[in-house]
Amino acid sequence: MFNLILFGPPGSGKGTQSEKIVDRFGLIHLSTGNLLRQEISEKTPLGLEAKNFMDKGQLVPDEVVIGMIDSCLEKHPEAQGFLFDGFPRTIAQAEALDKLLALKKTAISKVLALDVSEDELVRRLLERGKTSGRSDDTDESIIRKRFSVYKGETEPVATHYEKQDKFERIPGEGSVNDIFQKLSSAIEKKNEVAAQS
Ligand code: AP5
Repeated sequence: MFNLILFGPPGSGKGTQSEKIVDRFGLIHLSTGNLLRQEISEKTPLGLEAKNFMDKGQLVPDEVVIGMIDSCLEKHPEAQGFLFDGFPRTIAQAEALDKLLALKKTAISKVLALDVSEDELVRRLLERGKTSGRSDDTDESIIRKRFSVYKGETEPVATHYEKQDKFERIPGEGSVNDIFQKLSSAIEKKNEVAAQS
């Protein structure tokens, strides 16, 4: 199995690149942000709880997102690999993911981190906020809150995977296709997964 984490701050292009990567390499895309927004649109109890955190730019509690990922992994026993997008976002989530994968006799193969300057991130998110309907994109103070949560709680996850020698930074500014080529080369270097197209 090839299990990839696409890592990076809010607006760095994780969702955009994930769509292209899963298409090319036949991985199952697991985005905790998308899963949570789905719960919100269905007005489930989990969604209503999560919305309180997301609207403020805070993280949803670890046990909620870990539970969601666990049940998604169970739903795809035939998968040849997973792409984790927006997860793990805390050390507790990273440790839980390592354990869940170990139970399935697999592990994270690679963590690719998109590097983008903060000015460019703010520009992208405010631009998307004009049309996305995402409440966490329209207010610059909420966007800044998301960055500060990222720096405090999520950046330490990089060290967790650096210690495992799995972490690599990829420049995340420029055209979507150029960035995709760089990500694809890094994936292919692992030699564990073949492009499907
Ligand atoms: P989530 O949905 O994961 O949002 P995020 O990490 O803040 O990331 P975004 O979706 O905003 O950005 P992205 O990196 O995917 O970039 P995208 O491709 O969309 O999380 C939202 C919230 O849910 C969190 O704040 C938290 O509350 C909760 N949550 C989620 N996961 C959680 C977890 N594990 N634990 C706890 N809570 C969790 O691109 C952004 C924009 O830029 C788009 O408009 C795109 O078109 C544009 N763009 C992309 N690439 C380029 C490029 N190369 N050049 C120019 N524009 C570009």
